[in-house]
This record gives sequence, structure tokens and C-alpha cells, in this order.
Amino acid sequence: MFLTFAHEEWKKHLDPGDRAIDATCGNGYDTLVLSKLNLSHLYVFDIQAKALQATRNRLGSQKNISYHLGCHSLFSGVKAPIDLIVYNLGYLPRGDKSLTTQTATTLKSLKNGLQLLSPRGLISITLYPGHPEGEREKKALLAHVSTFSPKNFQVSRYSILNRSKAPSLLLIKKIE
Ligand SMILES: C[S@@+](CC[C@H](N)C(=O)[O-])C[C@H]1O[C@@H](n2cnc3c(N)ncnc32)[C@H](O)[C@@H]1O
Repeated sequence: MFLTFAHEEWKKHLDPGDRAIDATCGNGYDTLVLSKLNLSHLYVFDIQAKALQATRNRLGSQKNISYHLGCHSLFSGVKAPIDLIVYNLGYLPRGDKSLTTQTATTLKSLKNGLQLLSPRGLISITLYPGHPEGEREKKALLAHVSTFSPKNFQVSRYSILNRSKAPSLLLIKKIE
């Protein structure tokens, strides 16, 4: 449910020719959605070679997509401005659960991602508090984004109120 909701938010936000980052490509389902939105460039990151390969296999070759093996904390090789950055946190489904996103690198990546954003840029983060590191990530991210000035950012969160461990969607929209 949250992923479909997130996909709709990306489609509403992006215009043809925009530039985006998928910061956690995993099996490439989110990348596939982004790849159909007429972007001028899509940067794809994951720390696992097998995730990048699964994503390449799903998408086929497209010249406006670049694949980056490594941590998203630095966004090496990315040129600003970026109109959308997408994080789907956690670990690869049916994969190695120890290779999950980590609070420290996710926070670092968010700080660097904010520097890359275009004047009307959006960051979309799907949070998964159903495992211990996911719960830590959620708490740290919510504490951090709640300090953002409302003059500069609109920060919103979409969550299920009667399931405490359910995923939720955090949207950070830069105000022009
Ligand atoms: C929940 S999965 C992503 C699912 C994916 N968006 C999809 O549509 O299939 C999270 C992914 O984040 C990756 N990951 C974990 N830590 C990372 C990091 N520091 N930088 C980049 N990717 C990371 C994992 O390897 C995993 O593939």
C-alpha cells in the first residue's frame, strides 16, 4: 500500500526531463516505476552487486540510467540538481538481513541529498520499523526532519495509526 502511494507521489511530482536518484534499488521494482517517467537521468545505488544486477535485468539497457555500486551516503558521481531522491529503507526481501540500511549512513545520505536537491526537489523515504535497525532509523530520521525550518521544507509523514510497526512514508519537499 505504501509503495503504491509513494509511486503516485513521485508521478505527481516529476516532470519530463527531471533527474532522480533511487538510493536503494534492491530488486528494481521502484527503479522500474521511475524509469517510465521520462527522466533525463536516473542514478541508481545499492551496496549489493546482486541488487544492481537484478535491477539491470528488470529494466534492460537504457542510456539515461547509471548504476552505482556503493553506499548512498556520499552519492559519488551524482551531479546536481536532482528533483527526486527515493529511499526504500531496510534489507533486500529474501536477502541477507544484515545488509540493511543503517541509521548513521542514512542520516549522512539525507544530509548530502539535501545539498543536491533542485529548488523544488522532493525526498521520499519509506520507513520500516518492524526490525530493530529500522526502528532506530525511523526514530532518528523523524527527530532530525522535525528540526527543519518550515520556511525551507514541507515535511509530511503518512502512516497507519492502528499498526505501530507498519511501514510509513516520509516526504521532504523543498519550498522554492
Ligand atoms: C528494501 S530494499 C529496496 C527495495 C527496492 N527499492 C525495490 O524496489 O526492490 C533496501 C536495499 O537497500 C540496500 N542498501 C542497504 N544499505 C545501503 C547503503 N548504505 N547504500 C545503498 N544501498 C543500501 C540493500 O542492499 C537493499 O537492496
